[in-house]
Amino acid sequence: MNDMSDKTALMAAAQKARGAAYAPYSGFSVGAAVVCGDGSVYTGCNIENASYPCGICAERTAVAKAVSEGKREFRMIAVTGSSAEKCTPCGICRQFLYEFSPDMSVLCGNDAGEYDEIKLSELLPCGFGASSME
Ligand code: THU
Repeated sequence: MNDMSDKTALMAAAQKARGAAYAPYSGFSVGAAVVCGDGSVYTGCNIENASYPCGICAERTAVAKAVSEGKREFRMIAVTGSSAEKCTPCGICRQFLYEFSPDMSVLCGNDAGEYDEIKLSELLPCGFGASSME
């Protein structure tokens, strides 16, 4: 997942995953696709709830699916929202990702498939993780 076509394909997978978003309250659908250390890819979408705090973001849906299948290392995640603005992960998702792979890359995309690549360590500088407690 290093060349441009791989990244474009990962973003396309995130856009496809966005199609399953359940977002009746915000009307903002989000899709994500994460590449694991072994090259496998898991996708996710946001899932809202009538009790608003119960909702989950697309990134955590994708990573929870992967972790529940035994994956613990992530190279890159693509995230895309249903707007012209490029979607960056929320604070909770940044922390959730940081737990497993502080050095991973994040592709922040918009509804047209355009994206910026940003390191998670830039999105969450001085993050608190497992090594912080050593
Ligand atoms: N959302 C995500 O799924 N990922 C993000 O990175 C930003 C926000 C979702 C949560 C909620 O369902 C909707 O977008 C509006 O905040």
